[in-house]
Amino acid sequence: MNIVLMGLPGAGKGTQADRIVEKYDIPHISTGDMFRAAIKGGTKLGLEAKSFMDKGALVPDEVTIGIVRERLSAADCEEGFLLDGFPRTVPQAEALESLLADLGKRIEHVVNIQVEQDELVKRLTGRRICKVCGTAYHLVFNPPQKDGVCDKDGGELYQREDDNPETVTNRLEVNIKQTQPLLDFYENKGVLKNINGQQDIQKVFADIDALLKGDRG
Ligand code: AP5
Repeated sequence: MNIVLMGLPGAGKGTQADRIVEKYDIPHISTGDMFRAAIKGGTKLGLEAKSFMDKGALVPDEVTIGIVRERLSAADCEEGFLLDGFPRTVPQAEALESLLADLGKRIEHVVNIQVEQDELVKRLTGRRICKVCGTAYHLVFNPPQKDGVCDKDGGELYQREDDNPETVTNRLEVNIKQTQPLLDFYENKGVLKNINGQQDIQKVFADIDALLKGDRG
């Protein structure tokens, strides 16, 4: 199953992606995670991406498309994949179409998680992430059992650099501007499905799962 997961920053893409890839046994391809790994590794890509991410801006299309092209050509994507945070612009969506056509594939589901802006600010500024496994928690909405410690592996929780209030505001503005044309692009292709992301995490997953299983139109 080939899936694109869309949603503004903080909509819950990463949270739901973890559940989807576990259930459907497909690789999770998050461009944000790939850029953060490159920054951590001190690579040329990381250095370039960091200058944009720190401001809450998008990394240029040609860079982003290049890393996705390479990743989707890997053997583990043969039976399907979940793209999280890509495409984010119409040129990225067009590049994805042509890349998949070359590989003899197509996107079957575009799942758009909808959440209001006020709620997104609260979610992003209260988010904490495990240094070891990357699981996202929230100080209020989804707290760990023990403060500052991951439930799964005891890893230390940290705050992402771009989750400070100033960068969050810019990220939301940038993404809101890019999102509508992208939604129109997929709506016109008849593959776009909206999900109410302002529900309990389990309920959001149940709705997505029903959609992927074809129980819901
Ligand atoms: P990326 O890493 O993709 O970040 P983002 O899109 O800003 O999204 P987030 O990861 O912040 O949020 P999420 O939707 O995954 O929410 P989460 O599940 O964690 O991108 C980072 C940067 O990389 C970009 O700004 C850009 O610079 C660059 N980049 C990446 N892709 C790019 C591209 N294609 N083109 C160009 N540049 C690109 O949830 C958030 C919080 O809410 C958590 O604390 C969670 O516990 C909580 N939560 C989740 N669901 C619920 C719920 N239902 N109820 C209550 N709380 C919830």
